[in-house]
Amino acid sequence: MEVKKVLVSGVKPTGRPHLGNYFGAMKQFVELGNLYESYVFIADLHAITSLQNREELSKNSLEVLLDYLAIGLDPHKMAIYKQSDVPQVTELAWIFNCLTTMPYLMRAHAFKDAEAKNKEINVGVFDYPLLMAADILIQDADVVPVGADQKQHVEIARDVAQKFNNTFGELFKLPEELILDEVAVVPGTDGRKMSKSYGNTIPLFASDEEIEKAVMSIVTDSSSEVPQNVYAIHVLLRNKNDLEVIYAENKGQYQKLKELLIEDLKAFITPMRERRQILDQDKNAVLKVLKAGGRVAYERAEKKMEKVREMVGLKLY
Ligand code: TRP
Repeated sequence: MEVKKVLVSGVKPTGRPHLGNYFGAMKQFVELGNLYESYVFIADLHAITSLQNREELSKNSLEVLLDYLAIGLDPHKMAIYKQSDVPQVTELAWIFNCLTTMPYLMRAHAFKDAEAKNKEINVGVFDYPLLMAADILIQDADVVPVGADQKQHVEIARDVAQKFNNTFGELFKLPEELILDEVAVVPGTDGRKMSKSYGNTIPLFASDEEIEKAVMSIVTDSSSEVPQNVYAIHVLLRNKNDLEVIYAENKGQYQKLKELLIEDLKAFITPMRERRQILDQDKNAVLKVLKAGGRVAYERAEKKMEKVREMVGLKLY
């Protein structure tokens, strides 16, 4: 029997996803799920470092779950859970706290950025990388798919694994980051990177009206025959050969090309949006899926944690 490598990844519950999130990261989870034994979780404990509102946190957690199920993450093939259903990660993070120096964590980019911006930094923000290390190491991850901005966090996980192994004996695997395909830096309606902060997004589960409005607002440059910003989004949905023909046939006809993009976007988005609506109507079933995933992740974490407790000297009976 083929033994698959283990993949662990967390997603923070942060509002409505857009096409940039989908092509930049989300889509790849679906594909990776076939290649690895996967543990994908909603990082709700990490979220409280910045989101401290009961309704919003629980609502956002459920929303992300719906998003991921709607794009095709299959709970029969992988464990999908929420971080807080595996409380062992906080226990392990405490042990990592005791193995890590303050100056070491002060070199983390996220901390340095927050400090440079004079933000008020809570202890959770400072400790964020060690909770993340616990998420990863407790499940014996081989690979951790992350955006380039999270690379350092995986390095920190490796360092702390090493530190534990040197101090208490070999226990943790050293995980590798799997940097998500940067090909998919998706441009927004103004040509800059699609980002909520630029207000140039097309929502992944957009309604027909939202799709029309977003595409019609795409900024076009009249100096060229091909409206680059339209093409750059179109190319995510269709192969280049098809597009070459379409854009040659409609040279300079921006309105027509936008209409064609609208058509293709609708064909792409509608099935996912409908799947999401169906899931949304049966929240109990969806929550059951989450709970079941939590049990799987919990059991696996507990086994690992028993070894940790033993090796550290916490286990007396
Ligand atoms: N820090 C990650 C992010 O901001 C989320 C995350 C939490 C994570 N724990 C993780 C990612 C463990 C990978 C593995 O996107």
